Amino acid sequence: MLIRNELPEYRRPLTAQDAEALRAEAAAEVEGFLELRENHKPTPLYSLGALAKKLNVDGIYIKDESHRLHAGSFKALGSSYAIIRLVLENASSQLGRAVNVSELHTRSVRDIARQMVFGCATTGNQGLAVAYGAHLVGAKAVVFVHANISKERIAAIERWRAHVIRVDGPYEEALAEAARACARSGAILVSDLSGTGDEHAAKFIMQGYVPIISEAMRTIPNAPTHIFVQAGIGVLAAAITGHLATTLGAERPTIIVVEPERAACLYASAAKGNIHKIAGNAPSVMAMLECFEPSHLAWRILSRQADFFMIVKEDDAISAMNQLAKPMGNDPAIVAGESGGVGLAGLIRLAQDASLSSRIELNSNSRILVVNTEGAMDLSRYNQIVGLSPLVVSAGLPCDGI
Ligand SMILES: Cc1ncc(COP(=O)(O)O)c(C=O)c1O
Repeated sequence: MLIRNELPEYRRPLTAQDAEALRAEAAAEVEGFLELRENHKPTPLYSLGALAKKLNVDGIYIKDESHRLHAGSFKALGSSYAIIRLVLENASSQLGRAVNVSELHTRSVRDIARQMVFGCATTGNQGLAVAYGAHLVGAKAVVFVHANISKERIAAIERWRAHVIRVDGPYEEALAEAARACARSGAILVSDLSGTGDEHAAKFIMQGYVPIISEAMRTIPNAPTHIFVQAGIGVLAAAITGHLATTLGAERPTIIVVEPERAACLYASAAKGNIHKIAGNAPSVMAMLECFEPSHLAWRILSRQADFFMIVKEDDAISAMNQLAKPMGNDPAIVAGESGGVGLAGLIRLAQDASLSSRIELNSNSRILVVNTEGAMDLSRYNQIVGLSPLVVSAGLPCDGI
């Protein structure tokens, strides 16, 4: 359930292009874009002191991305940043001059954006993020959803006025259909699942996630020794890992990538020694992480710089949600969706096993950072799993964190 990165490329520096996308200057640029948004505020970081004591570590900190841009998950960061960059590129080429982000809401740029259509396929949060990003710039969004997406997640996407098209099949089918439809109509596919081909939009999406870690590193009282980060295709984990590798080098924390046992494509790739597509499996409660093939872009970074890959079971994710909702001692109660608490689930799993803890050097001096990547995006499922409404759980939560 835990494997050390023993790939030949482990500890090699990032490629020059990947380093450029994720270094400190890139973080400052993305944060600069965010500061221009009306509804932007850095997300809170909370300390889970009582849980840390129970797990016998020095500290546990959770960056709560459920508050990000009022869109419920970290995903809104990546696709909205990518969409803004793509609109500015198009406007620069149509107007024949460099167009700056401060001009995004001027009439000439809005007119150009209005003609643009962004398409994507989704397991839920990516569709919401693209719908939100397109709405922000005044463009249109078409979102292809696969057969297993809940009605609530679809309704959330439609609230941002996206056109939703249902595809009768798994996510991969929806993605293929989205790619075909975009190629036919000239719409721009906003996908972070980079294959070996064009990585343009995928790179912007990854770059858009960097503020999660740059904000956390500024706020955390003492630098973390370990980061547990959940992964679907690995782009979020790559953004965090790549940013820390370029800014801290060998001084960076130990990175542990956590996946559901039923959809562990990065874990399988690390075990096989190369990027690997796995067979589909029974559905996982961690639906947003249900991905069977890593992003090539993410793999290039994680294979060089992630330290460990691990898997968690269905029950681990459910107990992490409950642990966050009904915390011990004075720890804050945090609303985490089914995929939100999976990094924490990984920590809890390892901390309870002395031999696994010692493999990652987890001990009473360790300070751990995890990310709550989503809030209760599906209210009825949240109620079912936690037995409480998210409003009740978050009633006493201080908005500003530590
Ligand atoms: C809530 C949540 N957490 C984590 C992830 C994993 O991100 P990635 O696919 O970049 O690994 C996703 C992906 O959609 C997600 O929605």
